[in-house]
Amino acid sequence: MTRKRPEDLRSHRWYGVQDLRAFGHRSRAAQMGYDRADYAGKPVIAVLNTWSDINPCHTHFRARAEEVKRGVWQAGGFPVEMPALSLAEPFQKPTTMMYRNFLAMEAEELLRSYPCDGAVLMGGCDKTTPGLVMGATSMGLPFIFMPAGPMLRGNWHGKPLGSGSDAWKYWAELRAGNITEREWGEVEDGIARSAGHCMTMGTASTMTSVAEALGLTLPGAASIPAPDANHARMATATGRRIVEMVWEDLKPADILTARSFDNAIVTALALGGSTNAIVHLIAMARRAGVALALDRFDALAARTPLLADVRPAGRFLMEDFYYAGGLPALLAEIRDLLALDERTVNGRTLGENIAGAKSYDPQVIRPRADPLVASGSLAVLRGNLAPDGAVIKPAAAEPRLLRHTGPAVVFADYNDMAARIDDPDLAVTADSVLVLKNAGPKGGPGMPEWGQLPIPKKLLAQGVRDMVRISDARMSGTSYGACVLHVAPESWVGGPLALVRDGDRIELDVPARRLHLHVSEEELARRRAAWRPPAPRYARGYGRVFAEHIRQANEGCDFDFLEGTAPTPEPEIH
Ligand code: FES
Repeated sequence: MTRKRPEDLRSHRWYGVQDLRAFGHRSRAAQMGYDRADYAGKPVIAVLNTWSDINPCHTHFRARAEEVKRGVWQAGGFPVEMPALSLAEPFQKPTTMMYRNFLAMEAEELLRSYPCDGAVLMGGCDKTTPGLVMGATSMGLPFIFMPAGPMLRGNWHGKPLGSGSDAWKYWAELRAGNITEREWGEVEDGIARSAGHCMTMGTASTMTSVAEALGLTLPGAASIPAPDANHARMATATGRRIVEMVWEDLKPADILTARSFDNAIVTALALGGSTNAIVHLIAMARRAGVALALDRFDALAARTPLLADVRPAGRFLMEDFYYAGGLPALLAEIRDLLALDERTVNGRTLGENIAGAKSYDPQVIRPRADPLVASGSLAVLRGNLAPDGAVIKPAAAEPRLLRHTGPAVVFADYNDMAARIDDPDLAVTADSVLVLKNAGPKGGPGMPEWGQLPIPKKLLAQGVRDMVRISDARMSGTSYGACVLHVAPESWVGGPLALVRDGDRIELDVPARRLHLHVSEEELARRRAAWRPPAPRYARGYGRVFAEHIRQANEGCDFDFLEGTAPTPEPEIH
């Protein structure tokens, strides 16, 4: 491997040459108090920090950025912290998914337009991981992803509480009259009690683990709880390593391959990870020039056991998972399913990184001989209701519903659902199939996490806790139930979901991978002819860009003009 020389650095064009522009760059660096010795001949490391006052998952990122910088200084680099869009899952509306591509664009353009030689990407809250990775992959500079780490376990009356999962659970219990308003308030105060991202196996834990399995983090980084001192040390080690990666010119293209994406999918499946990972992995793969199709997930699910006994699929939380050995221990259990010779950011292979790792608690990280689910924890469905595919997590559903036919109860959109779902006169039974339209990439917009439609109150009171639910929405990784998600094409663009009416019989057959609307072709043709596209929602701004360029769920929901690997010209330094 040829090492770079200082004059080969990209930043040399800004700082190292003798012309009027470089005078400007150096004099402005001096204005900030930097001496030439601080940066001359050193790799400039962008620390892309998604800290924000409104992002509870990244509250420790101010301190962590300093720890990353400490590592960069130690290794002879010049750290430059740059704030990037924070995508705070609980607060940003209509959904952070609408802004994932915005962050990807920002990350890519920050790295391109400034004198960066390499980057540390600081993210963790749901969409920040794919957003940062997508953008940095398109830019193509060496980078390391630094995961935020999960928050500590929640606590209520001495019982552990899990992000999301226990909110849905106790909300249902409140609605069913089984807990009091006061107890509900105690749950509110106890469910999130430290910095860090959601500590169930939601989208955040899934995507940071996926980033590690792809080889984009230091080994073991994704599982360390945010407040743990090991997390701070990992941040510094990340800062040290990126400087060396720049000299080695170890780029994402050397790490991200079809085989590393298979590793990522297998990892997500063994973790019982969020279905959101499907959309993000397809988008990330396309940025890396890897053609990843929905069916690859089904194929790999057929041979991957679910070993992480972590909520919502299992019992424990990320803190327990870390103490049980963390992701390296899980990967060691499924080593025969992984491409172990794939390179990672530390210069070693995935196999070398997990050598010697083992589970310290077989209840949390199960042995291969005792999986939570032997295989098939994710299924890709097709049929006349989802010609381009839909997904379901069979392990998260009541088994009796995996083969089910029932009459549709249709909601035109989220507001219609919210207004009628608890109506005592709603014609719904436990056998009904709840259908939510216009919740997809364009219709939501941003494919909000509405896919776990609430069980109607009158059915809750009868003890019903799961029903078949179908939508073009996503579902929070911390949710559960017989929810068919990501129906493509979506109803907003005239996909078959748009044609479903109350009372239509819908058949879900997970073993046969089938989602069928029992309505004749002639009748569907009549309905299709009568269907009118909704009026555009945005006349201007980002919303308009989004609506005009967003791809469907089975294609990863990237913007059409951002996909692929065609190089974007480097800026001229005038
Ligand atoms: Fe940030 Fe869940 S709210 S990861």
